[in-house]
Amino acid sequence: MLPKAELHVHLEGTLEPEDLVRFAARNRVELPWQSAEQLRAAYTFTGLENFLSVYFQGCRVLRTREDFRELTLAYLQRAAGQGVRRAEMLFGPQAFLDHGIPVDDQVGGITDAIAEARETHGIDGALLVSAHRHRNEADALELLELVRPWRDRVLGAGLGGAERGNPPAKFARYFAAARAEGYRTTCHAGEEGPAAYVAEALEECRVERIDHGYAAAEHPDLVARLAGDQVTLTMCPLSNLRLHVTDDLTTYPLKRLMDAGVPVTVNSDDPAYFGGYVNENYAAVTEALGLTETEVKTLARNSFSGSFAHPEEVRSLVEELTGS
Ligand code: HPA
Ligand code: ZN
Repeated sequence: MLPKAELHVHLEGTLEPEDLVRFAARNRVELPWQSAEQLRAAYTFTGLENFLSVYFQGCRVLRTREDFRELTLAYLQRAAGQGVRRAEMLFGPQAFLDHGIPVDDQVGGITDAIAEARETHGIDGALLVSAHRHRNEADALELLELVRPWRDRVLGAGLGGAERGNPPAKFARYFAAARAEGYRTTCHAGEEGPAAYVAEALEECRVERIDHGYAAAEHPDLVARLAGDQVTLTMCPLSNLRLHVTDDLTTYPLKRLMDAGVPVTVNSDDPAYFGGYVNENYAAVTEALGLTETEVKTLARNSFSGSFAHPEEVRSLVEELTGS
């Protein structure tokens, strides 16, 4: 129950099989799976793109403002139960816009749940919109237009989706536009893609945080730069295992990066698909790498200092952790 922040979780990836089946029935959406058990059995992935095809099928069942509210509330309740004080949740409206679902219903439902969870569970939720990199930059720029009416309820902008062949630089103007509107910025890089994408996200897109950053570990110059500039990496060990980014957590670079001074954090990515929420991810790396209690506390501290929360809030969360 160590107090912590979760900085890398896709709301769509928190859709548990039971809820997926329930939403499909209530919205009359046909699925290639008949039950939650069948769904779970289908959750073996060959890689990121194979995973994304299943994930986007799952997205089809989310239709109404109430669906988005329930999805978000269920995640925030569960996260609060794992000691999460602050959750910065990525969400990709483009898949739902394709199905004719208005952005008002999507963001409205999510932000209703954030307000409710703050009251009921004492957890501070924040929303980051995420553009799909397998689409073009014009679509990403259009996404910023579409969420503009909700500008004060959206904290940041990110980039996810199929990484290989879709380098960050393709979205340099998207990130520039996001920054100009005052959004905090983060970019998936170095998950399946090369370390060069991590450097590119920093140099060409000037993002504040890197989601994953796994590939950076093999490049000493880049590691030194991440440490020097204190760029937070939001790593996701169970995701990386399930998507074959790594095949063995005993060699996972998280501790090496931490020892080199990079502010690394532990996160769940798509917990309903990858077999664990944030605490299962902490447990997996702690066990595989033999992390000490002090190192685990450093990970939790990094999650607060790497968050996009107000500095006053960061300070009070770190104080809570220090006293725990
Ligand atoms: N990588 C890229 N895009 C994603 C992921 C991921 O792990 N999960 C959901 N969208
Ligand atoms: Zn992700």
